[in-house]
Amino acid sequence: MPTILIIHGPNLNLLGTRERSVYGDTTMETINSSCVSHGKSIGFEVDTFQSNSEGDIIDAIHDAPSKYDGAVINPGAYTHTSVAIRDAIAAVDIPFVEVHLSNIHSREEFRQRSVTAPVCAGQICGFGPASYILGIEALKSVIEKK
Ligand code: DQA
Repeated sequence: MPTILIIHGPNLNLLGTRERSVYGDTTMETINSSCVSHGKSIGFEVDTFQSNSEGDIIDAIHDAPSKYDGAVINPGAYTHTSVAIRDAIAAVDIPFVEVHLSNIHSREEFRQRSVTAPVCAGQICGFGPASYILGIEALKSVIEKK
């Protein structure tokens, strides 16, 4: 069975209470459960990981190819700054899809640039928790094309 990893970056553990007018009421745990059950419905095993630390996210990316066929990543604020996470994604040989709850392109200028998206298969943003489900679907199509 294809197995994929969902990676949540910094502050996403606070979903549900964090800036609810931007990110909504859904917790990360609820997003994770819906990713796991959506995965089941399409025959994919889904694991989840969250860290507030850039180095831990990089380690998870390095380890991913030994266990996973691809990953959906919401790098949080690291999206806009982390050349190190970008380089880690570029260094490994499995596909990544970048997702965001909010539409980063309609927000502050500093959020409109993603340094990580160019090394991903693509980016989905602006659909709240559904961005993750759409991300899984996008990843599935990339994995099945390989
Ligand atoms: C986010 C958008 C980022 O700009 C922000 O720093 C986040 C969440 C999103 O999912 O909309 O932490 O990645």
